[in-house]
Amino acid sequence: MNTNGRKIGYAVAGLGIGKAHADAAAVSENARLVAVCDLIEDKMDAIVKKYPGTKKYLDFDEMLKDPEIDIVSICLPSAMHAEYAERAMRAGKHVLIEKPIDITPEAAERIERVRLETGMKAGVVHQNRNNVDMLPIKQAIESGHLGRVFLGTFAVKWYRKQDYYNGWHGTWEMDGGGSLMNQSVHTVDLMQWMMGEVESVSSQMDIYNHDMDTEDTTVSTIRFKNGAIASFVTTTCAYPGISTDIQVYGTNGSVEADQDVLKTWKIKDFSDDFADLLGLDACDEEEEEEEMLARYGGGNMGYLAEHPAHIVGHRSVVEDMIDAVLNDRDPQILPMEAIKSVRIVCAVYESARTGKTVYFN
Ligand SMILES: NC(=O)c1ccc[n+]([C@@H]2O[C@H](COP(=O)([O-])OP(=O)(O)OC[C@H]3O[C@@H](n4cnc5c(N)ncnc54)[C@H](O)[C@@H]3O)[C@@H](O)[C@H]2O)c1
Repeated sequence: MNTNGRKIGYAVAGLGIGKAHADAAAVSENARLVAVCDLIEDKMDAIVKKYPGTKKYLDFDEMLKDPEIDIVSICLPSAMHAEYAERAMRAGKHVLIEKPIDITPEAAERIERVRLETGMKAGVVHQNRNNVDMLPIKQAIESGHLGRVFLGTFAVKWYRKQDYYNGWHGTWEMDGGGSLMNQSVHTVDLMQWMMGEVESVSSQMDIYNHDMDTEDTTVSTIRFKNGAIASFVTTTCAYPGISTDIQVYGTNGSVEADQDVLKTWKIKDFSDDFADLLGLDACDEEEEEEEMLARYGGGNMGYLAEHPAHIVGHRSVVEDMIDAVLNDRDPQILPMEAIKSVRIVCAVYESARTGKTVYFN
């Protein structure tokens, strides 16, 4: 897209988590927040108060006619993503789509088809890949430093009050599921990103502490094509919200994190190559552990203080999308990457419903 030297024009549809997209666009050096769209006027007024000059649209298609807009963040209820992303791309806008990309693999494929047909860019929000401790874990796996990965244990133990489920959240129709599709799809994405392609899933689900359609608790056993196995637990009943455990075990060591806080880094056979890759000063196994925990053990903030250029959360994905448009490259997560977590989630639900193991091709 030729923006003729002007800043990238950014718009956000849906002002729940969309507020974080609006904040990110408003502070970006390379973009400006042009417009927001929501059915609720008060939500738009709050943004205009914060960022004067932002245009308000009650109607999504009206907003798409605005020539100042280059990118639209789709932050609407999950089952609306494909429909609204298609409308935006056909109107000549690039799209950044909230997770999950949509609630079925078919809807995600529709987004990919329209992306290819229109030549517009489509990125998907899985910001947890940019948590500061996730990249070193991924690098330890990919470089072979962790040895052969054979086991993962993943558990998203969160809490949601009943009133959270009084609207579209937790419905099969609009959310595509409950604690797994909504709260845990990020961790499903991280699991497949770290452990590899899934071969089969075998699952149970139930509703324990909410009045809702779908599930508030799931438990799965997952086998990967590389032979590794994992357990994956999700709940929105763990008062008051406990942790997101990500634990990966290889023949050469163990790494454990609570989403963005590294808890354990125990890897035998110190590797100079890995130390170089991460820029560590460490010269042996103990020093590596100490340095990794000092760097990544305190959550994002400690490392961010040292490396203020490293941005995380929604800002990281919005900046990536803006940069992708400016430099005519692909965004970090394309639709066919984001479809993987939706396929896994849908397989879990199928297995839990039928009582049978679901196999992937
Ligand atoms: N990446 C993350 O960490 C993260 C966090 C929360 C939510 N999400 C995702 O973001 C999406 C939105 O979730 P939420 O929790 O913010 O929902 P929400 O219900 O809080 O917000 C959705 C907004 O969309 C508006 N809306 C609905 N239909 C509309 C229409 N036709 N035109 C314009 N606006 C319309 C609603 O009025 C509402 O303000 C979901 O897909 C969810 O999974 C992602």
